[in-house]
Formats: sequence, structure tokens, C-alpha cells
Amino acid sequence: MKEKGSSFTGSLGFVLAAAGSAVGVGNIWRFPYLCAKDGGGLFLLVYLILVATFGFVLLTTDIAIGRKTKQNALKAFGTIQRKWKFLGYLTFLVPTLIMTYYSVIGGWIVKYFCVYLASDGKEAVGDGYFTSFISSKVSPIVFMLVFLALTAWIVYRGVEKGIEKYSKIIMPGLILLIVGIAIFGLTLSHQDADGTVRTGMQGLSIYLKPDFTGLTVKRFLEILLDAMSQLFFSLSVSMGIMVTYGSYVKDEVHLNQSINQIELFDTGVAFLAGMLIIPSVFVFLGKEGMAAGPSLIFISLPKVFEAMGGVGRIIAIAFFLMMGFAALTSAVSVMETLVANCMELFHKTRKQMCLMIGVYSLVTAVLICLGYNVLYFEFPLPNGSTAQLLDVMDYISNSFLMPFISLLTSILIGWVVGPKWITSEVERNGETFKREGLYSFMIRYVVPVVMLILFLVSTGFANL
Ligand code: PFF
Repeated sequence: MKEKGSSFTGSLGFVLAAAGSAVGVGNIWRFPYLCAKDGGGLFLLVYLILVATFGFVLLTTDIAIGRKTKQNALKAFGTIQRKWKFLGYLTFLVPTLIMTYYSVIGGWIVKYFCVYLASDGKEAVGDGYFTSFISSKVSPIVFMLVFLALTAWIVYRGVEKGIEKYSKIIMPGLILLIVGIAIFGLTLSHQDADGTVRTGMQGLSIYLKPDFTGLTVKRFLEILLDAMSQLFFSLSVSMGIMVTYGSYVKDEVHLNQSINQIELFDTGVAFLAGMLIIPSVFVFLGKEGMAAGPSLIFISLPKVFEAMGGVGRIIAIAFFLMMGFAALTSAVSVMETLVANCMELFHKTRKQMCLMIGVYSLVTAVLICLGYNVLYFEFPLPNGSTAQLLDVMDYISNSFLMPFISLLTSILIGWVVGPKWITSEVERNGETFKREGLYSFMIRYVVPVVMLILFLVSTGFANL
């Protein structure tokens, strides 16, 4: 992120920085496992519709609020209306919660990178490997520490811009790798002991074709909540971060066009990651294996790399390196948000705040790691499932807090100041806001109603 007072040099700088924050483990780890859990094609369809509607509305709102007020999220909402200052503070809770577990997942990536660096990765292929790794006491903490130390060092030195420069090389590299491995995955097939054969092309059809059989209202709401939580997390919206990015965007940049590019990029990477993971999960683990949850990519990818033979190891090293980099740029943006806002809140120096946020991130991440062994509990979630600490944090921030923040934001923009407050900002350079009608309708009527329903469902007030 930029130092206070400076601006992105142009729309490309802004799009790249925002995409660096948006594209991370949300796209490559979270999207495929949710999509597989929710049956493939139907989740994909719901997600794509949400991106084109809610994603566009929420991203436009965040970025326009930032550019119009020229303030970070903490101050921006109070600048719109004094009474709404609390909303800025509420958004700040989201990165505070996400920081507790983001570096734990970053650590898992570092672990797999190291496994392939040190060996041919055969050990990672066994079904129990990932579970025994995350439930061991020391190893996940060590790898999390490596990832967290790197993140904290970048934030402390303020060298994010230097890191973002590499995004121009790494991001296309990552996309090419994902496409290449996905195409290879489609050629795979597997025969079970009972003779059943499953092919990659069958897996592709599960990913792309929505299956409506047996769909109930309860099931649909579950999918909707999962897809919406994914949208928030992946686009980094409703958490103040895009408001802050928006405050650095120069007035002459065309907002509409930049927002479309960020959305397209973020969704494109998620879509391709789904194409990489879901068909191969189906081939190796069958339909039952698709519900594996957070462990999904760490169980299925080693099987694909093994099927590649000799080059599998090199491809695996390159893949986990690039995925680790994408995770790092996102983790840096989460931590930078915390550090920058706390510097302002507590009037402390960057060094002092880096230390404090570093300690906070470290302690909470250790607790999350221990949530798979000494602190292992099956927490009941309002949606009827049970979860460990990491998923509980994820649920509170993405399924509960973010719909609530979006509900309040839509009331503020749609009803208190009016949609024109945002649309005039988008149109400030004479740009025509083609979807102005859609924006105004959504922010006034659709967003509040849907967010209220999701909030009630996620808190358990409305029983599914
Ligand atoms: N959008 C990021 C991802 O998809 O991995 C996650 C993220 C980045 C969340 C920045 C929060 C944040 F402030």
C-alpha cells in the first residue's frame, strides 16, 4: 500500500495494487474447496452472478467512497456523516480477524514448497499426510512463522511497492501454470478397486454444469451464503481495504473501467483455479472426496503432480512458489492496513506498530495452529456444521461480519446520502456509468434485503 498522501501513478498502478491484494489464497485455496463442497457448477453459477451484481456494487461503493473522501476507511465513513463513524471502526475488525489465520495458510504453502524442494514429494501423496501435518504441534507453527516473518519484514521496511513490481512477472506466470496443470488434469483418469473409472472430463462437467436436482431453499441459501462470503474475501471488499486503496486513486482515473478489470482478474484466477482443482479431485477422490473442505487442494494437488512423473516436482516447486507469492502480497495488504490504521489511532511510529501487530499476529496464529491439536474443539456453527478455530474465525469475518457491514453501508449510501453520492464520483471525468441504474437499484433495495437475510441466516436467527 502507499504512504499517506501519495497517489497511484495511473490506473494500471491502481489495478495492479488492488489485484495484488485481491488475488491470494482466497482464489486458489478457498474458492475451489467451497465450490467442490457445494457441488461444482451450481456454486460457480451463483458466484459468477454475484460477481457481476453484488461484487460490482460493493467494489464500486468502497473505491468511490475512498476517492471521494480521500480518507482511509477509519475516517471515510465519519467524513460522509459523523454519526456513521462507527462503521469505519467496524470494517477494521475484518482484517483484524483475517490476520489471525491468513499466515497459517501461508505456512501450509511454504511447507509444501519445502517438501518438493527437499524430496520428490511422494510422502505428500498419502491421504493422511496433510491431516497429520496440521495436527502436529510444532511443524505448522514453524512454517507459519516463516511466512509471517516475511510479511512483517516487508511491512516494516515499507517495501511493498518493490514487491508489487514482481507481481507483473509472477501473476502471469501463476496463471500460465494454473492453465497448464489444469489442462493436464483434464487428461487424467483413475480406476477404483471396484472397477469404476472416473475421468478429468467428467470432473470438468461437474465443475461447469449446474446440477439443480434435489435443490431446496435451505440448500440454496447455504450456497448463497458460501458464495457471498467468498465474494467478500476474494475481492477484499467490505473490510475497509478497498476504501483505502480508493483514497490513493487520482481523480482522472476512470473508476468504472478499473473496477471491471480488478473483478475480471480476480474472478478469472478463481475460475481457473477451480478448473485446476475440481476435475482432479473428482478423478482421485470421487464425489465423496469433494467435500473435504480446507484441506482439499493440499490433498489433491500432490496426486496430480505425482501423475506428471519426473517434471511434476519442478512444476510443484514453481506452483507453490508462485502461490506463496500471491498469498504474500495479500497478507502484506492485510497487515499494512492494520499497521497504518493503528499508527493513526494510537499516534505511534511504524516501528512500534509493526512490533505490536507482529506480536498480535504471532500469538493469534499460534492459537489457530494449536486449534488442530491441543486446542482442538468441534465448534458448532449456526449453519449446523462444526468447525475448528481457523474456520470459526473465517466464518465470523466472512459470513457474519461482512454481510452486516454491507447491510449498513447500503443503508448509508442507498438511503441516507443517496446513490448519486457514489454515481457522481464515478462519473466525475465525464465517464458514463453504464450500469448506474443497476447500481442505484441494487444499493437501495437488493443489497440491504439480501444482506439482512444472510446476516440472520449466518447468526442462526433465521433457521435454515
Ligand atoms: N482477497 C485476499 C484473497 O483472496 O486471498 C484476502 C484478503 C486480502 C483479505 C486483503 C483481506 C485483505 F485485507
